[in-house]
Amino acid sequence: MAWISLCELDELKPGEGKYVEIDGYQLAVFIENDKVFVIDNTCPHAGGNLAGGYVDDGCAVCPWHYWAFRLDSGELKDAPGVKVATYQVRTIEHGGKQLVQANLPMP
Ligand code: FES
Repeated sequence: MAWISLCELDELKPGEGKYVEIDGYQLAVFIENDKVFVIDNTCPHAGGNLAGGYVDDGCAVCPWHYWAFRLDSGELKDAPGVKVATYQVRTIEHGGKQLVQANLPMP
């Protein structure tokens, strides 16, 4: 595992996702009630872009067919057996900026 910087904290807007592609990962980053969440970007239903969706009731909602994944666990709200990967998140101060980092498995 390694902590990888994804973006600056102030690039995140409540209710919206931010897409980040880094080190072979395609990730969707969200901020909700001042807490940052990182999940895999690809919807397991048919490959929708979760970062392009919106947030509702603590869930990332896929823009294609509106499947809703819990930001904290990655589980599909209506069927918890289906899930997207979630990653540990931290923010660090670097050069006067607040960076969002995720703890990603590295080969
Ligand atoms: S591709 Fe995401 S809900 Fe269908």
